[in-house]
Amino acid sequence: MDRIRIVGGHRLMGAIPISGAKNAALPLMIAALLTDGTLTLENLPRLADVSQLARILANHGVDYTIEGKRIGDSEVQGQTVHLSARQIVDTTAPYDLVSRMRASFWVLAPLVARMGEAKVSLPGGCAIGTRPVDLLLMAMERLGAEIEIENGYAVAKARNGLRGADIDFPKVTVGGTHTALMAASLAHGTTVIHNAAREPEIVDLADCLVKMGAKIKGAGSKTIEISGVSRLTGARHAVLPDRIEAGTYAMAVAMTGGDVLLQGARAELLQSALDAVVRSGATVAETNEGIRVYRNGAGIQPVDVSTDPFPGFPTDLQAQFMALMTRAEGTSRITETIFENRFMHVAELARFGAHIRLDGDTAIVEGVARLKGAPVMATDLRASVSLVIAALAAEGETMVNRVYHLDRGFEALEKKLGACGAEIERLSSGG
Ligand code: UD1
Repeated sequence: MDRIRIVGGHRLMGAIPISGAKNAALPLMIAALLTDGTLTLENLPRLADVSQLARILANHGVDYTIEGKRIGDSEVQGQTVHLSARQIVDTTAPYDLVSRMRASFWVLAPLVARMGEAKVSLPGGCAIGTRPVDLLLMAMERLGAEIEIENGYAVAKARNGLRGADIDFPKVTVGGTHTALMAASLAHGTTVIHNAAREPEIVDLADCLVKMGAKIKGAGSKTIEISGVSRLTGARHAVLPDRIEAGTYAMAVAMTGGDVLLQGARAELLQSALDAVVRSGATVAETNEGIRVYRNGAGIQPVDVSTDPFPGFPTDLQAQFMALMTRAEGTSRITETIFENRFMHVAELARFGAHIRLDGDTAIVEGVARLKGAPVMATDLRASVSLVIAALAAEGETMVNRVYHLDRGFEALEKKLGACGAEIERLSSGG
């Protein structure tokens, strides 16, 4: 299993190209199941989760082709892929495929909408909490699907097609909103989603569905209205830039000091996170090419944050911000309101000498002057990258183990950081 070795203490200077967003790429790829036409996605990141989803879609009968590189393409340039679900050959998504990635459960919606049936393994627990799918199933039931849970599978049927309905989510759910959007696009009649998630990735999916012929109004607001159509077509769509990757590198620069241009990043996609970075003492400036983040000399100030659905501070940046706060000149409070157990990184950050105490859903971080490198273990996707941020500012060597978590969500991490002066290398164990 690969490991990443980092020697801390170098300022980051240069430019980092921001990849396409993983959390937009996954639902966009799944949307290919809604049509017998070809969906072409540009700027798709090279990530383990994308490859895994491609395998799952192939099992349903989706042809997946990746366009070759062009002269002048950079190493980290997004790929263009063509997805074609001309014929769906299998409506079952088996446990061994779904259990590795929660978002693959979302195939349920397009399969039922197009084929009138689906059998999808329940995703099961995961490191950051129980993460149920009750609200996704509720949305499908509101649209007329009959759902039974059998032997760990959700078995859904809508033999006469789905019908538009009012769907009122008691809690903001990204996956629930993606599910409702995809299913309602091919339902008979009108659907109104109340308390919809407003994340930019929802807007990206809706934009793509509209290109495919869907009739959607209000994506990005709390109420989305969808008039179902009988058929969707192929389309071409570019995946939006990854706001979590951009926020992660912004926090890395705030941590190490230096000056980095996040190429292609869009400030309006992560304003609340950038506000926190600014309050911590870094400067953030929007440019034509992206977002420039720099911190020279000044110390890191403590900042309290609480995660919230968009446009609030993203839970997917909570661990990274905590890493930054471990070196603040004072005490900060970081509250997690989305997931019940998303503090796996606390124990690992302590291995660098960080002082963090947990009080229910809040971590109280007492900044320390120095972190020291240590062997640490990646636990989940976002927690892992918080260890990288700590390591970049720690004295001496850090070895991050189990980096497959990083590969799920961060494209070419060591290359991007290495190009900005970080001392970072991947050690392949060759087995
Ligand atoms: C998505 C993101 C993930 C991010 C999360 C919150 C992808 C691939 N993943 O995950 O990176 O951290 O949004 O921004 O886009 N819930 C229920 N019942 C349900 C569904 C969700 O109770 O049926 C709860 C969850 O346990 C959680 C909250 O609702 O407490 C929000 O979850 P949700 O927005 O659905 O997260 P995901 O879509 O799984």
